[in-house]
Amino acid sequence: MTRMFLLLGLTLVWMGACTPETSTAPELPASAAEKLDRIDLRTPLPLPPMMAKRQKENMRDHLLVVKEIIGALVSDDFATIERAAQRIGFSEGTRQMCTRMGAAAPGFTEQALAFHQRVDRVAAAAREGDRVGVLEQLGATLEICTACHATWKQQVVDEATWERLASTGPSSQEKQH
Ligand code: HEC
Repeated sequence: MTRMFLLLGLTLVWMGACTPETSTAPELPASAAEKLDRIDLRTPLPLPPMMAKRQKENMRDHLLVVKEIIGALVSDDFATIERAAQRIGFSEGTRQMCTRMGAAAPGFTEQALAFHQRVDRVAAAAREGDRVGVLEQLGATLEICTACHATWKQQVVDEATWERLASTGPSSQEKQH
């Protein structure tokens, strides 16, 4: 019995020692990710993990397309330029995907769609064998890439948070149709 009380007493002392005193405890250090988020002042583009991964995969493919176009320009290979540009050109599929990606970030979808439509002009210039036109349109396309990067940062959130943000976002009405 005495031993039990002793044990109980010791446990209480131990718990007391481990309970932080909220009034005097120093602020918990922010994680490195939180620190980065605080100093990166771009607008968050909230996405759940799978969509965030997908978006970055698309992005890396965008850069690949630019590389392919420049490579093909060296030899005036307009068929390759057209094919590469068409890969990321505007389509009903891209419209749907960009609408979904921007569902929780007002303004993102519009920028994304303007981008894909601009890429179509690269393809059109290539179809005409217009070397300077390809370069001009590629330059204008890259301006949209860099403007978008200057504006948005990915913010990975859980599914429930994304659903909540997306349901109050600007594209929610379109999604319900
Ligand atoms: C509508 C907006 C938008 C457009 C247009 C856009 N991007 Fe991005 N891109 C993003 C966002 C958002 C990220 C993530 C940035 C971050 O979180 O720091 C990103 C990231 C990237 C990354 C990094 C991928 C990784 O794996 O980390 C590359 C490369 C990239 N973009 C290339 C391009 C290229 C090339 C173009 C144009 C040909 C382009 N992007 C157009 C929004 C855009």
